Amino acid sequence: MRGELCIGGASVLSLISLVLLIFMHVGQINTSTVPRGISMVNVNTSGYGQGLNVALGDPIAGLYASNGSAPLRDQQGIRELYKYGLYSYCGYVNGTGICSNTSAANRFTPLTDLVADMAANYSGVTTALIDQGTFTDSSYLGNFTNGAYYLIIIGSVCTALALFTGLLKHTVLFFLSTLFAVLGSLTLLIGAIIWTVVIKKAESINDFVVGHPGQPTTPLGITVSTGSGIYLLWAAWAALIVSILPYMISRGTMFKSISRSAALATGILGLAVAVSALPKVTRTGRYLYSEDGTRFLIKGIAYQEQGVVTSDPNSPFSEPTTFIDPLADPTAL
Ligand SMILES: *[C@@H]1O[C@H](CO)[C@@H](O)[C@H](O)[C@H]1NC(C)=O
Ligand SMILES: *[C@@H]1O[C@H](CO)[C@@H](O)[C@H](O)[C@H]1NC(C)=O
Ligand SMILES: *[C@@H]1O[C@H](CO)[C@@H](O)[C@H](O)[C@H]1NC(C)=O
Ligand SMILES: *[C@@H]1O[C@H](CO)[C@@H](O)[C@H](O)[C@H]1NC(C)=O
Ligand SMILES: *[C@@H]1O[C@H](CO)[C@@H](O)[C@H](O)[C@H]1NC(C)=O
Repeated sequence: MRGELCIGGASVLSLISLVLLIFMHVGQINTSTVPRGISMVNVNTSGYGQGLNVALGDPIAGLYASNGSAPLRDQQGIRELYKYGLYSYCGYVNGTGICSNTSAANRFTPLTDLVADMAANYSGVTTALIDQGTFTDSSYLGNFTNGAYYLIIIGSVCTALALFTGLLKHTVLFFLSTLFAVLGSLTLLIGAIIWTVVIKKAESINDFVVGHPGQPTTPLGITVSTGSGIYLLWAAWAALIVSILPYMISRGTMFKSISRSAALATGILGLAVAVSALPKVTRTGRYLYSEDGTRFLIKGIAYQEQGVVTSDPNSPFSEPTTFIDPLADPTAL
């Protein structure tokens, strides 16, 4: 009964994990012109016009696109908000926008995309102005987020397989289900870590300021923030990893092996302590001596007939030097 309860709990948790992952994926596939709810990372450039104005000292005209439906990466002007997903990225002006036509393994390359949207007279200024921080390293950000995409896809497929194989009441399939859950949680974990680290590094742009010496500085006006897709991904991973625990507990394998190793370690430690507490015994000739020079004796009873007895100051019990083995004596019967 307890085992069944555990298996049921594991299925419910992997179902929760799968539903969260489906939400995350489907929410990002949306290609409508209104801002989609779910993204991995958002880049808000609404303050950049002002930042550039302070940096250049010139009025900034024609930096932003006036038409949200204008194609991306076509020098048509930057968008106020960019949302990056696993499948594509979208740019929005005043609540309407357009998405890139990549369909999978989208790369998070914010500065490259931003510069490609600018009129030629602003792109040179921008690359000269924003010259430090991970935000500028499009190949680093792009390669890592591209790799994380495949890990998240593998993790999602494994989660689905873990759920469906776990529903079937079969021992081998049940083992397979746990294997898929372990594999899925591992790949989702690595994918989520990569995305989280990449976003944290890109967020260094939020502290970037512009200004002239001796004058108060102004923020650059570009801010990177974590999208809701990251939280869904972490939640899905958490549900999946918790779904494995009931299996481990119901089988007790983990706890049994832990308690066994603990007992073994305690035994070895106890033995080591006992051995180190024993006095040192050395041999001289036929006899054993303790460290203080007295004879070390193990008393016992010999069932063999004694042979020659010689007197020796080292032999206070008059031990014989030889014994007669009656079993080796053919005439003894
Ligand atoms: C972008 O940032 C500005 C302030 O820097 C804020 O007023 C605006 O609401 C943000 N836009 C979005 C879509 O978050
Ligand atoms: C840059 O070019 C746009 C049009 O392409 C123009 O509206 C704007 O005034 C120019 N800005 C500067 C600083 O030259
Ligand atoms: C916006 O751009 C799209 C595509 O380039 C075009 O079809 C549409 O007419 C433009 N809208 C306005 C108001 O310029
Ligand atoms: C992507 O969309 C642009 C317009 O935004 C278009 O010119 C281009 O041909 C499209 N590329 C592909 C591979 O569909
Ligand atoms: C955005 O929309 C508001 C009103 O809806 C309008 O006043 C403003 O000019 C628009 N901005 C752009 C850049 O189109």
